Amino acid sequence: MTQPSVWEQILDYSHRPNPYQLYAELRKTPVTVAEDGSYLVSTYAEIVSLLHDPRVSSDVGRNPQAAAAAAAGARTTGTETAGTGTAGTGEEAEEGAGEARGLGPSFLLMDPPDHDRLRRLAMRHFGPPNTPGRVAGLEPRMVEIVTGLIDDLAGRTRVDLVDDFAYPFPVAVICELLGVPVGDERRFRVWVDMALESTDPGVDAETQQQKRTEAGKWLLDYMTDLVAAHRQAPGTDLLSAMADDDGPEGRMTNEELVSLGLLLLVAGHETTVNLISNGILTLLHHPDMLARLRDDPDLAIPMVEELLRFEPPVHFLPFRTALDDIEIAGTTIPAGASITPVLAAGNRDPLHTRDPDSFLPDRENNDHLGFGSGIHLCFGAPLARLEAQIALAEFAGRLDNPRLAEDPPLYRPSPILRGPRHLAVDIDGVRAAVPGTE
Ligand code: HEM
Repeated sequence: MTQPSVWEQILDYSHRPNPYQLYAELRKTPVTVAEDGSYLVSTYAEIVSLLHDPRVSSDVGRNPQAAAAAAAGARTTGTETAGTGTAGTGEEAEEGAGEARGLGPSFLLMDPPDHDRLRRLAMRHFGPPNTPGRVAGLEPRMVEIVTGLIDDLAGRTRVDLVDDFAYPFPVAVICELLGVPVGDERRFRVWVDMALESTDPGVDAETQQQKRTEAGKWLLDYMTDLVAAHRQAPGTDLLSAMADDDGPEGRMTNEELVSLGLLLLVAGHETTVNLISNGILTLLHHPDMLARLRDDPDLAIPMVEELLRFEPPVHFLPFRTALDDIEIAGTTIPAGASITPVLAAGNRDPLHTRDPDSFLPDRENNDHLGFGSGIHLCFGAPLARLEAQIALAEFAGRLDNPRLAEDPPLYRPSPILRGPRHLAVDIDGVRAAVPGTE
């Protein structure tokens, strides 16, 4: 029997709790070719270089490997494919959605100039210079939601900090931000979970494609109805603002808005759940840091940056495509090849970060790859940062003597969006909220 390659071991579920030793192995050869022919890039400098290289495309329609996978799926499901693919930040759902009605992808899966136009249109309502207050204005409401979730833990000795805390918080925030009824979560959770399960390498390609198609169809119908309702009766939320905008570059089409709404809904919470739960787990493994955060809640700001480096929610970006032959680290990536930047390996590259396997929130750390790099740098980063800072400071400040009941915890299946599925923690009690923070 042949020994599984390092990459196959990384994808294997048994290594989900700790893939970092395997990433160190992978980095010994900065650019290697995986079994499926894609070029894995694992060192910091090479990842950054490729993510800033205009010869590297995010448009999966230009990726022969993604197109072949989608075509295989179409043969098995009988649906028409839009030739989209996965990049690990929520667009799995979008992929299926594209197939259901032949819709185009969102700007995550586009190249300039379309990417830049749509990102600008969306940013007009999300951040500076047009809407500087959108995220900051949510802070009091975020504190209120987190305080309520922690209050609800009072009287219990065993809690699940994913189901009871890390999950419901970002879901509530993204729903309020977008103008999605928070009660709809029970409906879309099933489909989002199914779309994410479709990235599980333990599932065969046919089943993966079926799950994506089924989940995508439902999510697309759901978002189409929601967008129509917001166009008809606009509120003060983000979807309404984007639907109603007659700015200098014109309106988004219905299809563009539906794709974007889906991307924001899914990317807007799945990744943040993992940042918060990976953060709680890391703090429980570093009691000295937990104690420091309890005494100094402002430490949450650099701590979240270090977490995005040390335990990032997005581990790699599949299906980038070389548009030309690209020479890098002594290897030529041929035109048409798939490229997979392994962000989580780059984040722990000792050539870039000293003592990379230590969790050191005090270190200078403003160039991690947790939010990617280049033109697709995470759109929602300011929101995710604020949510994680508030959640971790509140967790440290209010839960009395938290201890892991299961270590390692059960992980979610995806090797791309990596984080615990459950986080069973024993506590001695819940402290009262500090007046003025609730
Ligand atoms: C901790 C939480 C988050 C992490 C780790 C994360 C990570 C990432 C990464 C790595 C990318 C780059 C993808 C690529 O280059 O292909 C990305 C892009 C993106 N993220 Fe996030 N994300 C987070 C939260 C959010 C939130 C809260 C939102 C929405 C409100 C969001 C919306 C997006 C969008 C729209 C893009 C596409 C940007 C573009 O293509 O220009 N993300 N994210």
